[in-house]
Amino acid sequence: MSPVARNAARVEDLVARAPILADDGLDLTRPVIESWTKARLEGAGQVFTGPATGPARWLVGAGVLAWDSRIFGLTCGRLFPIVHDLLPGRVGASDETAVESVGRRTVARALGWLGGQGVAFVSARVDGRDLIGAHVLEQAGFRLMDVSTIHRLDLAGKIPSVRPPKGFRLRPAEPQDERRLAGLAASAMTDVQYFQDRFTVDPILAPMAKKMYRAWWRNSIRGERADEIWVLEHGGRPVGFITLTGADAAETSLTNHAGGWVVLNGIESDWRGRGLYRLLVLGALRRLKKRGCQSARVKTKLTQRAVQRTWQALGARLTASSLVFHRRL
Ligand SMILES: CC(C)(COP(=O)(O)OP(=O)(O)OC[C@H]1O[C@@H](n2cnc3c(N)ncnc32)[C@H](O)[C@@H]1OP(=O)(O)O)[C@@H](O)C(=O)NCCC(=O)NCCS
Repeated sequence: MSPVARNAARVEDLVARAPILADDGLDLTRPVIESWTKARLEGAGQVFTGPATGPARWLVGAGVLAWDSRIFGLTCGRLFPIVHDLLPGRVGASDETAVESVGRRTVARALGWLGGQGVAFVSARVDGRDLIGAHVLEQAGFRLMDVSTIHRLDLAGKIPSVRPPKGFRLRPAEPQDERRLAGLAASAMTDVQYFQDRFTVDPILAPMAKKMYRAWWRNSIRGERADEIWVLEHGGRPVGFITLTGADAAETSLTNHAGGWVVLNGIESDWRGRGLYRLLVLGALRRLKKRGCQSARVKTKLTQRAVQRTWQALGARLTASSLVFHRRL
């Protein structure tokens, strides 16, 4: 029996009442967000529930992450999604301890199960609005590792067409780029002066961050983690790249909206600050539209101003945020 089916009544009841449900920036209607959340609980592996009565109700999805475990060389697990029926500011100070202790006990049960699976490292994500979830994770020994934003741009309008400056060329990635751009993909995404994410901020993962981005790049160029990649060349040498994924079929059928993503992107450090990222993004947006996407999203970190400024200037709106925590088990 699936984890959701095992807890069907509790899942139905709590998902219907939870004031905060994450929707990956799609601005979904409430019934769709609820189905979306149930699909994610279903995909989690296990679902843990707190007591059915008392000051608060909680659901915590838990699962083991095979790919991360292989890359980082330690068994990794995840708590996601975390659902409860509380709103920050609506919990009286006198109830706070009781409310959080219910959450903490549910998280502890999920961690106990992950420990039994051999998990040594756990990540947990909550919606940026869910500070109660964040406080419970803090109490359970987790530490904040990054704050992400999602911007979404409607692709119905005309996308400006811009020519690359003299000497530059934008072209689709070729098989040789797997090797030629692996170094840039790994160094740009781990260049902490420009971009800090949970893989570089957490000292446990940081030594493996470059290896992880190399593997991500390889999987992207081989078509597993990207549908298209565009490369910016200067004088025949690649100096930038952008990867994109078209609309996911399951997401589209659930949401009735075809939303694509820009995923990895980087410009060689010598060429930054000259508007070249904007050029890459415009190219990616045109391709996403051609692939039938109604909107394009980008997930970045709160501190990554260049990405946010570029997307905002093109008319993208901030549609979601999330907080990611880590803990060793
Ligand atoms: C993010 C990145 C691709 C931007 O490339 P870029 O070619 O330097 O960006 P642009 O020159 O097109 O600048 C885009 C906007 O950001 C601003 N900007 C550029 N660098 C910035 C910085 N370090 N801090 C704040 N704003 C910055 C620019 O002024 C411009 O805004 P404006 O149009 O309002 O003036 C590049 O910095 C990079 O490779 N970083 C490391 C990898 C990374 O962070 N990837 C994104 C992961 S989501």
